[in-house]
Amino acid sequence: MRFYSCFLVAFLCVLAFDDGGFLLLSNGGITSSYVRNEEKSVDMPFDSDVFKVPQGYNAPQQVHITQGDHEGKAIIVSWITVDEPGSSTVLYWPRNSTKMVQATGHITTYTYYNYTSGYIHHCTLEDLESNSTYYYEIGFGHTTRTFWFVTPPEVGPGVPCTFGIIGDLGQTYDSNTTLTHYEMNPVKGKTMLYVGDLSYADHYPYHDNRRWDSWGRFVERSVAYQPWI
Ligand SMILES: *[C@@H]1O[C@H](CO)[C@@H](O)[C@H](O)[C@H]1NC(C)=O
Ligand SMILES: *[C@@H]1O[C@H](CO)[C@@H](O)[C@H](O)[C@H]1NC(C)=O
Ligand SMILES: *[C@@H]1O[C@H](CO)[C@@H](O)[C@H](O)[C@H]1NC(C)=O
Ligand SMILES: *[C@@H]1O[C@H](CO)[C@@H](O)[C@H](O)[C@H]1NC(C)=O
Ligand SMILES: [Fe+2]
Repeated sequence: MRFYSCFLVAFLCVLAFDDGGFLLLSNGGITSSYVRNEEKSVDMPFDSDVFKVPQGYNAPQQVHITQGDHEGKAIIVSWITVDEPGSSTVLYWPRNSTKMVQATGHITTYTYYNYTSGYIHHCTLEDLESNSTYYYEIGFGHTTRTFWFVTPPEVGPGVPCTFGIIGDLGQTYDSNTTLTHYEMNPVKGKTMLYVGDLSYADHYPYHDNRRWDSWGRFVERSVAYQPWI
């Protein structure tokens, strides 16, 4: 799967949940004429716009969400701070409501060869309403940032939900084009089914884990707003 044969795909399909838990392809087909360049393109340099570190002291970066339970009523929010551990609290509220809810997560770090990670935060938001827009805010005490997501509809027969599928994304110039095509598709994916191979940091000496951080900053523009699972 690695090395030169890697490919990038971005397409959308509409799936329906049925009562028995099967996935029925109900309205698939090709939704874009985009085909990625055949030639292998190079990684975007660290100073690229897509890798920009958000401004402000200890600002949350690499913000990403994923599904937090089996029904779509929980979301796990993750992010990195680099200056100090900071707060693991998430404040969240449904759109058109002033009812704020607070959840607190935990922080972890790791080292790998000569790399030391930032402060990695994970926090689970529970008891969410189905089919609703929520805002969430992180970075309390220093620089706060606010994002939003939409919860999936209640599970039931024939309930439609649109997924995107991307694999082998990496962080080349073509990776950026692939992600842009996904975002620009008129059929808006609600959740990304990410089939694996992410940053390709392992192509660098000591698997330069700074390439995990740059990848996290690159994909934030999508994964901070919809779960990648
Ligand atoms: C809900 O809030 C959004 C923006 O926050 C606004 O555009 C919309 O009109 C509001 N809807 C209702 C029903 O108040
Ligand atoms: C780790 O060592 C490699 C190889 O010497 C070097 O290229 C890289 O910049 C170093 N990484 C850090 C985070 O210092
Ligand atoms: C989701 O909510 C919207 C209104 O906010 C409504 O039009 C739509 O029918 C709902 N979908 C489901 C599957 O409940
Ligand atoms: C990545 O794509 C976006 C458009 O979605 C563009 O604004 C940006 O300049 C591109 N960056 C690079 C390094 O190609
Ligand atoms: Fe791959």
